[in-house]
Amino acid sequence: MKQNHTNSIGNLHKISIAPMMDCTDKHFRMIMRKISSKALLYTEMIVAKSLIYTDKKEKFLDFNNEEHPISVQFGGDDPTLLREAAMMAEDWGYDEINFNVGCPSSKVSSGNFGAALMNNPIRVARCIEALKDNCNLPITIKHRIGVDQNDSFVNLDSFVKDISNAGAQRFIVHARKAILKGLNPKQNRTIPPLRYDIVEQLKVNNPKLLIEINGGLSNIDECKSHLKVFDGVMVGRSAYKHPLKWSDIDKKIYGLKKPSKKASEILLSLIPYYENHLNKDGKSWEVCKHLINLVENFPKAKIWRNKITNLSIKENLDSDYLVKLILELQSMQY
Ligand SMILES: Cc1cc2nc3c(=O)[nH]c(=O)nc-3n(C[C@H](O)[C@H](O)[C@H](O)COP(=O)(O)O)c2cc1C
Repeated sequence: MKQNHTNSIGNLHKISIAPMMDCTDKHFRMIMRKISSKALLYTEMIVAKSLIYTDKKEKFLDFNNEEHPISVQFGGDDPTLLREAAMMAEDWGYDEINFNVGCPSSKVSSGNFGAALMNNPIRVARCIEALKDNCNLPITIKHRIGVDQNDSFVNLDSFVKDISNAGAQRFIVHARKAILKGLNPKQNRTIPPLRYDIVEQLKVNNPKLLIEINGGLSNIDECKSHLKVFDGVMVGRSAYKHPLKWSDIDKKIYGLKKPSKKASEILLSLIPYYENHLNKDGKSWEVCKHLINLVENFPKAKIWRNKITNLSIKENLDSDYLVKLILELQSMQY
């Protein structure tokens, strides 16, 4: 459904939750929004071509009004399709658009987009210009520090300069190169070493550009220390697997006076959303597969998670029973 919302991005986002396929859907984003009122949230990557040619646009684009500020991430290499997708995103009520130049999957690389595009800065510049062409949203880019043999600092530096000239307003740099031949996406998130030093040098060379660091961040203190150097931090896997670890974002990153939330409080705040989802014929597991990650690090956590998993997979978890299980957590002080 289209949204009525004015663009809420006026200032810089110090922290964001990374786009992750099969993870950062609208249900997970609602959980993160309950955790932080301020962090920028991203959609999963949407391939521009798939969006343009489907008659189920809402399946790709729908989000909940509470999710703002939210950035939609597009993948593709065809300026004409990207131009159209950008107009659609603005119409739908997104706050900004991010262009994916970091995905190393073979399917994406064979379509000549994602990380493979780092080899073609001219094409990336055309794509950025097309995204901006008929759209007033900020356009940002997420990329790697290099790809295969194209991994010199000179090339990286010239890449960001070219893309900035084309109109990109923020650079989110995954501090690893991508190796397209021989490593799968998971290996491409672990095997190439993290080189924060290279991204730092990029910021030093381009002090006026907004440069955000991504890769391997696992707690708020680490993020705060990176924020002394970079304009923003982006967190992926750690936020997905351990969302509760991030429950002090608003307090520690944005200085808001907020008490720390327990898992049970966050879960209870999601109940109206869960109820509404079931009322609209949504499946329990679609929400529960994400929310079980809130419950960890205490003796009965695994038992609790298994109970939710088993019941929700069988579609036997109504909201009253979920509340009962959450109150059990509350009684154990979690
Ligand atoms: C399951 C999964 C799916 C991902 N999907 C995307 C995606 O759609 N778009 C994107 O730009 N990056 C994607 N990434 C990469 C993350 O956005 C991020 O750059 C990477 O995980 C490094 O950050 P982290 O160490 O904080 O997880 C994905 C990562 C994971 C684990």
